[in-house]
Amino acid sequence: MSDSNRLRIAIQKSGRLSDDSIALLKAIGVKLQIRDRLLIAHATNLPIDLLRVRDDDIPGLVMDGVVDLGFIGENELEEKMLERQASGKKFEFKTLRRLDYGGCRLSIAVPNEFNYQGVQSLEGKKVATTYPFLLERFFKENNVNASAVMLTGSVEVAPRAGVADAICDLVSTGATLEANGLQEEEEIFQSKAVLIQRAGELPEAKAQLVSRFLPRIDGVMQAKE
Ligand code: PRP
Ligand code: ZN
Ligand code: MG
Repeated sequence: MSDSNRLRIAIQKSGRLSDDSIALLKAIGVKLQIRDRLLIAHATNLPIDLLRVRDDDIPGLVMDGVVDLGFIGENELEEKMLERQASGKKFEFKTLRRLDYGGCRLSIAVPNEFNYQGVQSLEGKKVATTYPFLLERFFKENNVNASAVMLTGSVEVAPRAGVADAICDLVSTGATLEANGLQEEEEIFQSKAVLIQRAGELPEAKAQLVSRFLPRIDGVMQAKE
């Protein structure tokens, strides 16, 4: 399976970035046969392997040099950088392109009945999130003493479940907030998908492949403008 001559690209297995990332790879000429249950997909026309994983794992795979490239949301990337910084681990990578999909924002939202008067209203409160490092940075920058409650999913039900007073989660259309009786109050981070590369030199053949792809990615994005 692991053939070091093949360019290894990590993409989200399923979720907001997977379809658009696969569509982009196809648009730049990578022929793929994706079988739903498989972790690895081989390109049929080029020396490329796709590693299909959870998006949370992608920044670390690139930073540890396990894969050569990764398609990832800036929110996940920034969160992982802060996490690694806090634990003294290295977090090197290169951003090759900011992409035109995966747009969303990380926002703090409170229940409709919460009388929100600005960030100071969060003083002493519990805020449920999957992004504790980004949230704590926001608290620090705004001199608020509040705590982040880590949840990996179903963040939007935390206030109703009595687990937290507010949430900090990704918002794109706002439908999830609305369906859960939550009001968006603070936008703390704006995100799009990016293509990142591991630190260090790629072997010549892989580097050439990547440098052939980048202008094609630019072309695909321009054509959509
Ligand atoms: C995010 C977020 C909300 C939803 C918001 O989840 O956690 O559930 O998207 O989008 P909306 O404003 O358009 O309703 P995501 O789809 O990333 O999946 P996950 O929660 O399973 O990570
Ligand atoms: Zn294989
Ligand atoms: Mg969600």
